[in-house]
Amino acid sequence: MVISALGIAGLAAAAERAERGVAHPERWPKARSSGLVSAAGEQFINELLSQLTPAEKVGQIIMADIDSIAPEDLRSYPLGAVLAGGAVPPLGRDRIPAEWFDTTRAFHDVAREPRPKHIAIPILFAVDAVHGNNGVEGATIFPHNVGLGATADADLVRRIGEATAQEVRAVGMDWAFAPALSVPQDLRWGRIDESYAEDPKLVATLGAALVRGLQGGQVAATAKHFVGDGGTTGGIDQGDNAASEQQLIRSNAQGYVASIDAGVMSVMASYSSWQGVKMHANATLLTAVLKGRLGFQGAVVGDWDGHGQVPGCSNVSCPQAFNAGLDMFMAPEGWKEMFDNTLQQVQSGRISRARLNDAVRRVLRVKVALGLFDAARPWEGQVDLLGSAEHRALAREAVRRSLVLLKNRARVLPIRAGAHVLVTGDAADDIGRQCGGWTLGWEGREHDNRAFPLARSIYSGLRQALIAGGGSAELSADGRYQSAPDVAVVVFGEHPYAEGLGDLKDIDYPLNGGRDLALLQRLHASHIPIVAVFVSGRPRVVDEEIDVADAFVAAWLPGSEGEGVADVLIGDERGTARYAFTGRLPFAWPAAARHTRYQVGFGLHD
Ligand code: BGC
Ligand code: BGC
Repeated sequence: MVISALGIAGLAAAAERAERGVAHPERWPKARSSGLVSAAGEQFINELLSQLTPAEKVGQIIMADIDSIAPEDLRSYPLGAVLAGGAVPPLGRDRIPAEWFDTTRAFHDVAREPRPKHIAIPILFAVDAVHGNNGVEGATIFPHNVGLGATADADLVRRIGEATAQEVRAVGMDWAFAPALSVPQDLRWGRIDESYAEDPKLVATLGAALVRGLQGGQVAATAKHFVGDGGTTGGIDQGDNAASEQQLIRSNAQGYVASIDAGVMSVMASYSSWQGVKMHANATLLTAVLKGRLGFQGAVVGDWDGHGQVPGCSNVSCPQAFNAGLDMFMAPEGWKEMFDNTLQQVQSGRISRARLNDAVRRVLRVKVALGLFDAARPWEGQVDLLGSAEHRALAREAVRRSLVLLKNRARVLPIRAGAHVLVTGDAADDIGRQCGGWTLGWEGREHDNRAFPLARSIYSGLRQALIAGGGSAELSADGRYQSAPDVAVVVFGEHPYAEGLGDLKDIDYPLNGGRDLALLQRLHASHIPIVAVFVSGRPRVVDEEIDVADAFVAAWLPGSEGEGVADVLIGDERGTARYAFTGRLPFAWPAAARHTRYQVGFGLHD
């Protein structure tokens, strides 16, 4: 047979296609992880495993969402985990800490109750505690990761992890779906706010620090989303990452090595694809690389119905993902059918006993490592830890360290404490805006300040600092004022979003008819010095706003402690800084018109 030149090219193309999405473990760095549990712990797990029925094992590898499961259901379906997804609560049935504690206790109690012919295994109660235990009213809301990236301070992030763990544990939750280790490559992506930085090294350092903090507080951390979520083409959420394997290793993979070194207990598979192959079904990455080369000993958890996106799967059946290395399905609504189908697949041999045992062993390792089998759990039920003075002071420190000064003409900042300040812009007195997505709900939209009983808006923080220094603040939504101000602080920016809802076609700001720019221009025309405070989950093109303002501050999504902004903006009586600006841009700030990038510290001495 003669193979024409075209035929050879065709064969080569076919071979290349067959290689797409196939990782080569030997190209990956090694992690230095030690085991998650002691030899005695492994022994305990083996004994437990030998007593479990296939149905009890299948239960361990499925997680349901609290909106679709009641504690009593665990008697017929002994699931391994329950989550309060989407940073709760759309149903609004639980808000305050005491109610949350009752809810988690009800699930824990049923899971632990002795029943004939049944081995009681504690459940893991999971939550998206991505900037504090952000689904619970009164919790301390820390700056989103993009702001923590600006601090570049691993010790601060570790302390935040510890405080978050206490607020998670206090309401009886055990497992946080954090940190995101994404290394975003396109500012249009809707999850930049959840990402620490564009520099993979910084992401790795801060991510590992959060893992240490959370797990030091006996909450399991989750490195997510494995792998490549930040590098999808066009920054499309859940899209395809077309990077070469080398590029993937150098960028989005870096954080996993560091987090596994830090002993991270779980890794969440990404919704996204790599080279056209859905991550939830990528055996070379989930098994050969993650569990083999990187030596990960914990559990690989799926994302919310992420398995349902694998070709040939549905939300209630996906042996493909399980066989590729997923250890626990996040089947929020379809958990019951998922349980029945998976058990059937185990019985038919579609899923091997060995694979099932491996997955259950990994889930049990997390439970043993967390001490869930022990009677006493630290902080459980201590609901006044939520929003404690100490945690809020830590969040306030994080806010002031995260602010990045992009411009300061004629040293309008810091503002003299005795000044009369006009505080305006539609985000000035809006705690929901400054918290962003994943706050008391998924998108974090439409919360008025009453939903945050202990928090302070940026305006309220400014006012407090000014009054303490003999000055005054006047709040005005539209920029009109009663007495002529010495300076105006204009707070504006993005409205909350989560995940793909935050994806953008382009990063120009604003699209809301330029209302913020008009306000800035009006004040400028009245010769009032302007300090612009931009609240956002990512850099946006704000050239004109920067031009018309005298000072421009990137405040990211600072969270519940608005006073942290005043700490830096308001100086003492003579106008000397009480706290210097120390934040550095975690992502290069884009400028559309000039095609230049604002450098770190830009304009400081302009
Ligand atoms: C997100 C995850 C999150 C999960 C549970 C998903 O949509 O991608 O980051 O942990 O929901 O709420
Ligand atoms: C859930 C999120 C999830 C999203 C996915 C929301 O309803 O709360 O956790 O990521 O749906 O579509």
